[in-house]
Amino acid sequence: MTSRTSLPSWQKLTAHAEEMKQQHMVDLFAKDSERFSKYSIDTSQFLFDYSKNVMSDETHALLLNLAKECDVEAWREKMFTGERINKTENRSVLHTALRNHSSTPTIVDGKNISEGVQKALNHVKAFSDKVRNGEWLGYSGKRITDVVSIGVGGSNLGPQMVTEALNEYANDEIQVHYVSNVDGTQVANVLRELTPETTLFIVSSKTFTTSETMTNATTAMQWLVASSFNKSAIAKHFVAVSSNKEKATAFGIEEENIFDMWDWVGGRFSLWSTIGLPIAIYLGFDYFVELLEGASEMDYHFCNTPLESNAPVIMALLSVWNTTFLGSQSQVILPYDQSLHMLPAYLQQAEMESNGKSTSWDGKQISYTTVPALWGEIGINGQHAFYQYLHQGNTIVPADFIGSVESLIPVDNHHDILMSNFFAQTQALMQGVTEAQVREELTAKGMPTEEIDKVAPHKVHKGNRPSNTILMQKLTPKALGSLVALYEHKIFVQGILLQICSFDQWGVELGKGLANNIHAELTDNKISEHHDSSTKGLMTFYKKNQIS
Ligand code: F6P
Repeated sequence: MTSRTSLPSWQKLTAHAEEMKQQHMVDLFAKDSERFSKYSIDTSQFLFDYSKNVMSDETHALLLNLAKECDVEAWREKMFTGERINKTENRSVLHTALRNHSSTPTIVDGKNISEGVQKALNHVKAFSDKVRNGEWLGYSGKRITDVVSIGVGGSNLGPQMVTEALNEYANDEIQVHYVSNVDGTQVANVLRELTPETTLFIVSSKTFTTSETMTNATTAMQWLVASSFNKSAIAKHFVAVSSNKEKATAFGIEEENIFDMWDWVGGRFSLWSTIGLPIAIYLGFDYFVELLEGASEMDYHFCNTPLESNAPVIMALLSVWNTTFLGSQSQVILPYDQSLHMLPAYLQQAEMESNGKSTSWDGKQISYTTVPALWGEIGINGQHAFYQYLHQGNTIVPADFIGSVESLIPVDNHHDILMSNFFAQTQALMQGVTEAQVREELTAKGMPTEEIDKVAPHKVHKGNRPSNTILMQKLTPKALGSLVALYEHKIFVQGILLQICSFDQWGVELGKGLANNIHAELTDNKISEHHDSSTKGLMTFYKKNQIS
């Protein structure tokens, strides 16, 4: 298999990157008054402006050549038609089938999987309606007031990010809580506030083997049984979302209370599936459908828009440009929207678990930097924490700014103030301020020259720091669905460009296996001699200082 580095476009981009490192975006904007209109895309749900990247027309053309030489369009076709592109697990990748609202069903290996998807959706609708309208009752005949979703990683982040983002759309008659951490503090804090008779647990685990989730589910079950003194209560208070029916029933969950999941949906792409049950219960099924529709609109854009104006393709190309060619090591996600506070954490799993790898499809070691470390925070809070580093630090961190024209809850002039900061920050990162400008400004203020000499170097901002801006009309279920699908497809294309299998996660297995062994040793109080001296020393200290 040809390695990416031998592609003509790759080699040209490598050389071109050296030239572009000498360019400043201020000059690129000055030279081209059309830059914004050329380098922004209006999708049905938002405006995507990528003009504030260190990129020229030549860069743009070379990047598009890279996409073509990497056969992005052919790979896209393979994914949507169910080819087993998850090579290391021999699976199809079909989260897009979960939001396929076209009249053409998704057929895989001669099987119509859209029928199963529809059946599962009907199950979600029927169940969420019953819980919401009070038909589904707890063991003592009372309606459900609280839902606790137990799951981790992809079985937690998607539903939690969405319910928190869209809580303005909920009627709050039912509260949803999440337990993901095996740290008992979390489950204890959640249960402390709840009444067993009116609490419903959703155990979300594709595999139903994840030890943290099973531990939390067992604790929840004991809590319920201790209150009801009756095991039959479990059927009224426990449902599961899993592709492993056998394990879920063995755990004690009634078969009719198990919601289907499939191996062709990766955990971090699963919020559109029955894993979205907490979303449907909290917001109502109609809003869940709107979320799917928004994603479906992005699927349509991704499949039907030429590469040069295809938002996820451009986003992926820019990520590779900034990271692999220009040398950035991290990327920051900055939502200027309180409701999107969990988006950075969600995208961390989506991108880093997908493409944080260093082996190519054919098992060879990759020589180039693959994906950046993703991090982020609500914009305004970040401004008063780490933006100093973004503006004047020694490393360049490309940023994604995400905001809306309309506020979810308009309060006086708050939104204009928020968005003024949003626009100002992308401008400041791009333009910076030169020493000459600093001096001019300080002189105009009447500062003595010797003081200016001292302070001026500290006030210089080099600028030339790249950012993308995503501007929605308003954060609606549809817009959010589209936004998440934009990132999903970006990640897919990024994987293709970097020659990475984006849909496995072998890198999380090593630690899991070791933790199981260590747990057994801690329980039996038999610390193995085979550990390195640090691990053994730490375990011994822990055991010695435990208060039994
Ligand atoms: O440990 C990583 C992981 O396998 C994720 O990929 C997944 O989202 C999460 O664990 C939870 O897995 P499950 O849904 O099978 O409990």
